[in-house]
Amino acid sequence: MTNPVDMLVGPNLTLTPEHEMIRQTARDFARKEIAPIAAHFDETGEFPFKTIKKMGALGLMGIEIPEEYGGAGLDTLSYVLGMVEISKVDAAHGTVMSVNNSLVCHGLHKFGAEAQKQKYLVPIAGGQQIGAYSLTEPMSGSDAGSMKSRAVRSGDHYVINGRKSWVTSAPVADIVVLFTMTAPEKRHKGITAFIVETGKPGFLRGKAEPKLGIRASATSEIVFEDYRCPVEDRLGEEGQGFKIAMDVLDAGRIGVAAQALGIAEAAYEASVAYATEREAFGSKIGEFQGIQFKIADMKTRIEASRLLIYSAALAKERCKTTGGRYTLESSMAKLFASETAMFCAHQAVQIHGGLGYSKELPVERYFRDAKITEIYEGTSEIQRLVIARNELGLR
Ligand code: CAA
Repeated sequence: MTNPVDMLVGPNLTLTPEHEMIRQTARDFARKEIAPIAAHFDETGEFPFKTIKKMGALGLMGIEIPEEYGGAGLDTLSYVLGMVEISKVDAAHGTVMSVNNSLVCHGLHKFGAEAQKQKYLVPIAGGQQIGAYSLTEPMSGSDAGSMKSRAVRSGDHYVINGRKSWVTSAPVADIVVLFTMTAPEKRHKGITAFIVETGKPGFLRGKAEPKLGIRASATSEIVFEDYRCPVEDRLGEEGQGFKIAMDVLDAGRIGVAAQALGIAEAAYEASVAYATEREAFGSKIGEFQGIQFKIADMKTRIEASRLLIYSAALAKERCKTTGGRYTLESSMAKLFASETAMFCAHQAVQIHGGLGYSKELPVERYFRDAKITEIYEGTSEIQRLVIARNELGLR
C-alpha cells in the first residue's frame, strides 16, 4: 500500500486507489444491506446480527489488524473511510464497528501477549466474535480513575467483583476488555486490564441502557460476582490498566470522529436535496438566504472535520512506526466532528421543518444519533480538557 502520508499531497487531497476501494466497498455494502433495515432496527432496538456478521466477512471489524491476526491489514485512514460510509447510513452499525475495531482490536493487538492474540484477537478481528470495552461505572464516567470494582489476586487467578455501566456491545459480546482496580490506594496507578469471557460463571449482564439514539447497538451494565479470571488473561501488567485505557481511547476517539462525520454528511446531503426540491413562497427554499447560510455552515464544518480526522489518522499511522502519542490530534478530531454532527443534524431537522421531526424520514434519527458522539469515549468537555492540558503542558 502507498505510504498514507503521500495520500494527502495535492490540492484535492486525492485518495489512493486502495483507499477509494475500501471506501467504495463500505459504501456499496451500507447502501445495499444496511439502508433497507436501519429504520426497523432503530425502532425495535434489536441487534442487527446478520449485517454485523457480513461486515466481519468484508474485513470491516478489524481493519487495521494484520492479516495474520484475522484483520484486513489496512491503515488508519482505511478505517476512517469505512467508518464514515457505514455511519452515514446507520450510526448504530458504526458504533459496533468502532468499538470492535479500536477499543477492542487495537488494545489486544498493541498490549496483548502472543497467546492472547491467537486466542482472542483472531476471532474478534475476523468478525466471527464481537468484543466490548468496559471502563465506566455508575459513579465513575469522566473521572475514570475513581472506579470501585475490584480484582483480588488469589493464586493463579484474580477474583473480580463489581458493576460496570454503559458497556457498548455487552449484551452480545463474546469477550470484554475490562478495567478494574487491583490496588485501590494507588488510584489510577492501581488499575489493571483483563480479558473477560462473557460465557464464564460470575459474569452477568445487567440492565440494558435505554437509549435516545444508536438504538440498534446493544448497551448494558455488566456485573461481576466472584468472576475468576486466570492470570494469563490479564492484559499488560498490574497497574498498567489506566494507560492502556487511555491509549485505546486515543484510537477510539478517531473512530467516533469518523462516525460523527458520517452522520453530519448524511444530514447535510438530505438537507441539500430537500432545499433544491421543496418550494415555499413561490421559490425553492434553497434560494432563500436563511437556508443558504445553514448549508454553507454545514458544508464548511464538515470539510474542516474531515481534515482534522485525516490528520489524526495520519498521526496514528506515523506513531505505529515512530512510537509516541496522537492524543491531541485524536481529541481535536473527536471534539470538532462530534459538535459538527450535532450542528448539522440540528440544522437538517430545521430545514426539513415538520418532516424533519417525522419518523417518515431518517433526519430525526440523525438528530438522535448525533448526540452520543459528544458524550461517549470522552465528553466534549473532557476533549477540551485533554487539548488544553496538552497545549499548556499541564497534567
Ligand atoms: N495515553 C497514554 N497514557 C495517558 C494518556 C494517553 N492518552 N492520557 C493520560 N495518560 C497517563 C498520564 O501520562 C499519567 O501517567 P503518569 O501517572 O505515569 O504520569 C496517567 O495516565 C494519568 O493521567 P492524568 O493525570 O491526566 O489522569 P486524570 O485522572 O486527570 O484523567 C482524563 C485524565 C483525560 C480526564 C481521563 O480520565 C479521561 O479521558 N476521562 C474520560 C474517560 C472516557 O473517555 N470514558 C469513556 C469510556 S468508553 C465509553 O464511552 C463506553 C463505550 O462502550 C464506548
